[in-house]
Parts: sequence; structure tokens; C-alpha cells
Amino acid sequence: MTTPDRVHPAWLPPEAFRAIGSRRTLVLGDGLLAETVHDEVAQASARYGGSVRRAGDGPYDLVLALTTAEALPGVAGEVRPDSAIGDEGYLLARRDGVTVVLADEPAGLLYGLFHVVRLGERAFAGERPAEHHRPAVRRRMLDHWDNVDVHPVMGQVERGYAGGSVFWRDGAPRGDLVRVRAYARLLAACGINAISVNNVNVHATEAHLLTDRLGDVAALADVFRPYGIRVHLSVSFASPVVVGGLPTSDPLDEDVRKWWADVTGRVYDTIPDFGGYVVKADSEGQPGPFAYGRDHADGANLLAEALAPYGGVVHWRAFVYNHRQDWRDRSTDRARAAYDHFAPLDGRFRDNVILQVKHGPIDFQPREPVSPVIAAMPATRVAVELQVTQEYTGQQRHVCYLAPMWREVLGFRPWGADGSDVADLVGGGDLVAVSNVGDDPYWTGHPLAQANLYAFGRLAWEPRLDPVAILDEWIDLTFVPAATGDTERLRRTLHEIMDDSWRTYERYTAPLGVGFMVRPGHHYGPDVDGYEYTPWGTYHFADRDGVGVDRTRATGTGFTGQYPPPWSEVYESLADCPDELLLFFHHVPYGHVLRSGSTVIQHIYDTHFAGAEQAAEAGRRWEEAVGLFDPALHARVKDLLDEQVRCAEEWRDQINAYFFRKSGVPDAHGRRIP
Ligand code: GCU
Repeated sequence: MTTPDRVHPAWLPPEAFRAIGSRRTLVLGDGLLAETVHDEVAQASARYGGSVRRAGDGPYDLVLALTTAEALPGVAGEVRPDSAIGDEGYLLARRDGVTVVLADEPAGLLYGLFHVVRLGERAFAGERPAEHHRPAVRRRMLDHWDNVDVHPVMGQVERGYAGGSVFWRDGAPRGDLVRVRAYARLLAACGINAISVNNVNVHATEAHLLTDRLGDVAALADVFRPYGIRVHLSVSFASPVVVGGLPTSDPLDEDVRKWWADVTGRVYDTIPDFGGYVVKADSEGQPGPFAYGRDHADGANLLAEALAPYGGVVHWRAFVYNHRQDWRDRSTDRARAAYDHFAPLDGRFRDNVILQVKHGPIDFQPREPVSPVIAAMPATRVAVELQVTQEYTGQQRHVCYLAPMWREVLGFRPWGADGSDVADLVGGGDLVAVSNVGDDPYWTGHPLAQANLYAFGRLAWEPRLDPVAILDEWIDLTFVPAATGDTERLRRTLHEIMDDSWRTYERYTAPLGVGFMVRPGHHYGPDVDGYEYTPWGTYHFADRDGVGVDRTRATGTGFTGQYPPPWSEVYESLADCPDELLLFFHHVPYGHVLRSGSTVIQHIYDTHFAGAEQAAEAGRRWEEAVGLFDPALHARVKDLLDEQVRCAEEWRDQINAYFFRKSGVPDAHGRRIP
């Protein structure tokens, strides 16, 4: 149950269990997850000299008990509430020297155990009035973009920056279930309860996971199950043709419906707690219902109907747009696409369809407005999709702590200050993210990118958590328990490098929300015009006079009209549009004065000099911290920071030179622009 040799324990080093393992614990409850809780405590006790029992008299320091237990001893009986605690929730209290975790279901016990791990010694000090914890989001899901076969362009993991896959290698299961189990444990400890195990782009081999390779999926499900995590599968919409040998995948065809019903029945015979299907259809070359003149409600409902008898769900992705656009065509706007396709279908989806919407209207850029689709479909279950893998945010070579960005997304209020925020809209529903994990010894390539995975899980459990507080939790679990040096300095160093790292990244890359000034294909490093004359619909329209995309109703693509007021007005207005999104919504002259008082061109120069300097400063901080961290980890991060500093300078110089050459406007401070 510990981490395999040579693999970093991330936020569950053995020392994080010292407080529990050195005490006397009672675990009361049956079922697979209660066994997991017992085994976790038993292992910690064996290491740190404590004890764990399943029954009998105390005294105990810690009681983890199901409310269904016949007789709750002492304090546990006293704090038991009259009302329900809820499926995954738990109650935490401490009285008379006994810490108590109560849950209605074994999953709650597991999450309660990990809460006690987070608290460490604090869980066993003083008195603690009963606190009720329950997840705000019901399904907290991680999507792996892992291929079974190595894809000739995308490799083993599409947009993976952490080595190979933890599940698959060279066309077969990787076979290291010990590693998968360690992974399941890490995910449970930050609150994740669902996972899809293959790429949304379903290629030939992967299509067979649904049928003759289902055993490989079942083997993974067996490992995730003891940690309360249900397995989902990405499937091809063309499966009836590709693996079923039918002549069509038309969603209204009777044979196709029957095929999906039969196949899905077999999936549930093999994996009774299977979560459901994830589908990318009619998107970037994936097959979909459009081929048959059907719409996406027809397509999604077909699969939903097959899954419904078993309680399964379809995550149907809203990432549908024309990726063969003519760059000369100024009327087509990729930002509009998801809303234009899906908003008219609101109300037509079965209730086990979950429309999975990327948080921004384009594609995981470092800065985008929140997608208007999220607020446009009141009669549809909507999941928000985040990207933990750092495709456009430094590819796990740059430090970029993403929780502050996600917090802004979750805090966005589509109907203005008095309305709900995105966290309310996904509350009780689904939050999904693309995983950043691979078979790298640090799990995430960049050791500090572990914080993004941890933060995603924690925000999915409680979307209003403060990113700085989440980082503290992560530091206190990952580094502090085993640290030998000055832990205050260690904490400070990590906060200095990480707290503002997303904004630093934003400063030295594409300015003011414009996006996509990256190298085409792999998306690392600057290439201002790399996508400008391509079919992908990702343009910035810079010329000698100005830059930005006019998405207004008055003179542009009309995208601003997809928002309800007040945002439809705020984004439409040149004066009111937030600076950081100005070039997403407007094409402006270089001399345009921002709300900050700076001109657009001077802002570009200033932020690029500042961002590259902040990256260099992070590098210096890290070097000073040698001795505070494990030497191998320190060395790995140092190498990566060297690359980040180099790359940030490249970004600075290319962006500044490009806009200086276009505009001819010199830097007001006379700094060197190559
Ligand atoms: C991005 C990414 C692709 C991915 C796609 C998706 O475009 O570059 O690799 O397949 O998103 O989300 O489906």
C-alpha cells in the first residue's frame, strides 16, 4: 500500500501518517472501503508503534466508525447526528481526548481518514466541535488522454509531459498494478472519485477496450475500487462499425441501438460499478452523428439509453468546432462554436447525459473568458472541464500553479454579482480535468506540478478553497513531514515560486487574452504567427496599426452576445472590458489606453520584461533553497527552472520584437528589444 520503490510518494509520504500510526485506533464498519481504511491505519501503526482494532473496548485515541455500526462506543455515540451525513461525507469531532470520524457510508470513512492525515498532530489536540464535511461536487473526475498504442504523432500520452502512461505501454497494459494502486490512493486522498482511462481521441486499438479488451479495463477498475474511484471509458462513436462490424453507426438505426445495449450490458456484467462513457464526437476528426445528418442530442441519447439501466452516464464533450476553417474567412469564430452547436439542444438530452464543456470557449489558453455554454443550458447537466496537464501553460517544464486560474473560473458569476457562480452551477454535478500524470518517478514530470493535481481534487471537493491554503496543505503533506531543515523557509520558498506563477506565465507569453502564439503542433514556446494563416481558427490579426479579435456584436463576430447581461455588455464595451481579456474581445490600436492607464504596446513590453524577470527570480530563490529539499528533487527542479528562464526570455524577446517591428513604437523605458 505504500508507494513503489523509486517512485516519489507525492502527498502521501509515510511520515504523513505518523500522527495516526502512533495512536490507538478503532475502525468500525464493513465493506471494501472500510477494509481500505483499516489497512491504511494498520500499516501506519506497524510503522509508528500504534495499534488498530475492529471491535472491543478502548481506550482509543481515534475512532473511525460507520453510523450503521450496532453500538458506537463513548464519544462516537455522543456526537452521532440525527440527520444524514451523506454518501461521501463525514463528521469530525474531538472530545475527552478522543478524535472521532463518523460516516454513513464507507467512502465517507475513507475521506475522513485522509482529512485526519492532513491535520496530522492537530487532529489530536484540544477539543473539536463536530464539523460536517461533504463534497460540493458529486463526480470529481480525471480524464487520462493515454493511448494504448504509441500514437505516431501524439505518443503514448497525448499532451502528456510526464513520461509514458501509468496504464498502458506499447499496445498493452503496462502491468504495474502496484503503481496504479499507489496512484488510486493519491487520488482518493485529494478527493477524486472517477477516472477515464484512455484518450478522448479513440484510435483503432483503443476502440477495442469496449469489447475484446474489456478485461484490461476491468483489471484497472479492480485496483481503483478499494479507493472509491469508478472507472469510465472513452469510446468511439463509430464503435458499431469499427468493432461491431455493422454497416452504420447512425444513432437512430435500430441495429445500432441494440448493439450499444448489448455491448453495454456486457460491460456491466464485467464491471458492475462501471461509470460510463466519455465521447468526443464530430471534433478534430473524430466520428460523430453529423455523418448521418443527426444532431448531438441524438448521438448522446443513444449511448445514454444504453447506460441508463445500470446507472451509467455519458460525458459528451462540447468541444465541437470547424478545424478546417479558411483563415481568410472573418465571419467564422471558433469561440462561438460550442454555444452555436449545443445551446439550441438544451432540454433534449436524457438526464444521464452530462455535457462536458471546456472552461473557456477556445482551448485551455492561459487566459480565456469563461465559456458562455456553462450558463446557457439550464435544462442540461453540464460538467466543466479543466486541463491539469500543462499543454498551453508550460508543459510541466515551467512552474505554473493553476489553482488561482481555476478559482477564478469557479468564482465567475455569469449573471453578475447577485447571481450564481460557476461553483454553484457544477455543485452537486461534475467537475472534470485532464490528468497530468505519467510513469515519471515524480508522477508529473515537474515535481512541483504535483500541486496542480492535488489542487484539482481539493477544489472539486470544495470549490471555494483558497489556492494559497491548498498549496499550504500540499506542502505540509509532501515536504514538511520528512523535512530536516528550516520548514518555515521551505514553505516560504515554495509560496514565493508558486503562488503567482500562473500570472508570471501569462505575463511572458501571449498578451491580454489573445492566445495561441505558440509553436504549432507541440504548443511549446513562442511563435507569434505560427497559427495565423492555418485552418485552426486561432488568430490574433496583428498588423501595423493594432491587434486582437473583434468579437463584438457591433462590428465583429457577435460572440459577446452569447453571454447574459451584464457580461454581454461588459465584454462588448471597449471601456469596460477587463484588461486581461481585451484582445480576446476587441481589435485595438497599439496606442489604446487600458484601464490600467498603460497603452497596449507599453503593456506588452512591460509585462514581458517583468514576467521574464520573475521567472529568473524564481530560479534564484530555488538555488538558495538547496539543502531544504531532497537533493535529487532539488536538482530536477533546478534543471527545469533553467529551461523556464531560457524559454521565458525567448518569449519576451520574440513577443517584444514582433510588436516593436509591427508597430514601430519604441519602449518608453528604452530597454533593449532585439
Ligand atoms: C486540444 C489538444 C488536443 C486534444 C483536444 C481535445 O486541441 O491539443 O490534443 O485532443 O484539445 O480536448 O479534444
